[in-house]
Amino acid sequence: MCGIFAYLNYLTPKKRLEILELLVNGLKRLEYRGYDSAGIAVDSSDETAIALIKQCGKVAVLEEAIKHVAEKLNFDALLETHCGIAHTRWATHGVPNEINSHPQRSDEHNSFVVVHNGIVTNYKEVKTFLEQKGFRFESETDTEIIAKLIYHFYQKHPNFSFRELVENVVQQLEGAFALCFKSKYFPGECVATRRGSPLLVGIKTKTRLATDHVPILYGKDEPPISPKEHRPHGRNEYPTLPRTGSTSEFEPLEDKQVEYFFASDASAIIEHTNRVIYFEDDDVAAVRNGVLSIHRVRRGGDDPNTREITTLKMELQQIMKGNYDYFMQKEIFEQPESVVNTMRGRVNFETGTVTLGGIKEHIPEIKRCRRLMLIGCGTSYHSAIATRQLLEELTELPVMVELASDFLDRTTPVFRDDVCFFISQSGETADTLMALRYCKQRGALIVGITNTVGSSICRESHCGVHINAGPEIGVASTKAYTSQFISLVMFALVMSEDRLSLRKRREKIIEGLRNLQEQIRIVLKLDQKVNALAEELYNKKSLLIMGRGFNFATCLEGALKVKELTYMHSEGIMAGELKHGPLALIDNTMPVMMIVMRDPVYTKCMNALQQVKSRDGDPILICEEGDAETIAFASRHLEIPKTVDCLQGILTVIPLQLLSFHIAVKRNCNVDCPRNLAKSVTVE
Ligand code: AGP
Repeated sequence: MCGIFAYLNYLTPKKRLEILELLVNGLKRLEYRGYDSAGIAVDSSDETAIALIKQCGKVAVLEEAIKHVAEKLNFDALLETHCGIAHTRWATHGVPNEINSHPQRSDEHNSFVVVHNGIVTNYKEVKTFLEQKGFRFESETDTEIIAKLIYHFYQKHPNFSFRELVENVVQQLEGAFALCFKSKYFPGECVATRRGSPLLVGIKTKTRLATDHVPILYGKDEPPISPKEHRPHGRNEYPTLPRTGSTSEFEPLEDKQVEYFFASDASAIIEHTNRVIYFEDDDVAAVRNGVLSIHRVRRGGDDPNTREITTLKMELQQIMKGNYDYFMQKEIFEQPESVVNTMRGRVNFETGTVTLGGIKEHIPEIKRCRRLMLIGCGTSYHSAIATRQLLEELTELPVMVELASDFLDRTTPVFRDDVCFFISQSGETADTLMALRYCKQRGALIVGITNTVGSSICRESHCGVHINAGPEIGVASTKAYTSQFISLVMFALVMSEDRLSLRKRREKIIEGLRNLQEQIRIVLKLDQKVNALAEELYNKKSLLIMGRGFNFATCLEGALKVKELTYMHSEGIMAGELKHGPLALIDNTMPVMMIVMRDPVYTKCMNALQQVKSRDGDPILICEEGDAETIAFASRHLEIPKTVDCLQGILTVIPLQLLSFHIAVKRNCNVDCPRNLAKSVTVE
């Protein structure tokens, strides 16, 4: 998915080369999101002009292209104050090529340039309007209309500030966007805004900021005018507009050295500063004279006066690969720690109690609800399937599990007394976010289950659980799945805490949670054995993964991992459905894996195993440690430690994560960034 990174240094001299390196590095940190082209805009040697460098392909290709403009750009020039913007593009409108890459520009002199994440849905109408005004378009993107529209407003209102121009532009846009603007008319200034796509700013100062809040200016409020304010090209007057009380509280960082880092996610910022502000929809943030101000066109009833500067806890090494060759591999092997982090401070193993601080106050309301709805996409959806049975058992409530896209297509009825869970690693998945807004409008209680603090789903939920799995960089979700699984199990435990009849069951589950870390370590020791199986499977066309009951979700999730990482066909099959179709696929050439654990559906799974074997199938079994009787039925098997039935899926999924990883490596696939996929799917 697209990535935005912008860097503004105010009274902090930097060589042009340093700035370019910083921008390229920012883009590299965003590479994991998936993209197909990249671009950068900086001031050129003639400081009244903007240089654009764009390339199709990886950031490394852009880096090479930058080297070739060394002479033209005067790399050694010291820039005291400067704004550079950069972007990685994941094509939505128009093929991946240089012209369609961002930054997009207003005209051949690059008067205004913009980088954009998201989709402008009314771009055709705006384009027609601009064409009538004489603008000629060069790209196939929706973004180009933004660059041209701001130029149009500039020509119409030459006295408007940069921020006012952007405000006028976004009022004309429909759809989802995060935008960063740069202009040759406003050197050293940057304006950024968002609606539906994430955006944040990191702030780095020499001395600690006097305040943890930045005031929000509503309507036509302006930040105080600095005596040093100047505008090039004779445009140095602000429009004279009425002021309100809120501006007097504004403490500019005037004359202080300051650096700003705008980005679509924190991974690009964290190495520079941990002091960030997450923007809300329709915030327009402007940096002028080194002063950051946040504006909103109008004020709603309970809108706040300030945006808080938060301190990120994430550390750089957390997002680096460490000793592993791939992020995904690292994340699979982090699971003994990530599951503990999910439970930390929540499960008290001594007293056998579970507390979820983020939803505690809402538990009485949840207990009175009509039904629970669990909504997500891909892996997050599978975590809901994995825990549905336990939720039904411990809450005795009807539990609906929904794919966000399908849920929206059906315009599913939702009521005020429904409780809707939105499960999302990134917290930004467009379908899940849309479904959240749909349910919120209908008065349901919204519970977010996310891994990304400050994400849109987090902010728009009434309450929620952070799964605390740590940053997940690999596009294929692994540790987030096991942590989502545990978060939902913890919720089921909270809901049943006063049910005497369930006491024994709860104790067993809590004991199972206590042992998980050690058991995951044991499963991870199967890595070499799994690698040997991958050697056998990597050049096959297909892989069927069968199971039922508590392990059906593992089949779906395992098959999704195989598909997305290896580009092989794979299907998760409910073993109870075999006779209704899939059995026709079985012969002695079809690779099959079966999950057969000693749980309530063991006998049924063994029946399925017999059915497959009697059609010449030779399934690889995932079964319980030491279960000689079951092992005797298969030529190859992986033994998994026994835990309580409802937690078994956490252990059975790990060999399939490893298998998909090893097959992907053997097939020379891009493990961390599979083709056509993105980590954060912020478009519908
Ligand atoms: C998982 O491996 C996938 N890449 C994908 O299915 C993912 O889980 C899905 O896009 C939902 O993402 P989210 O959890 O960030 O909402």
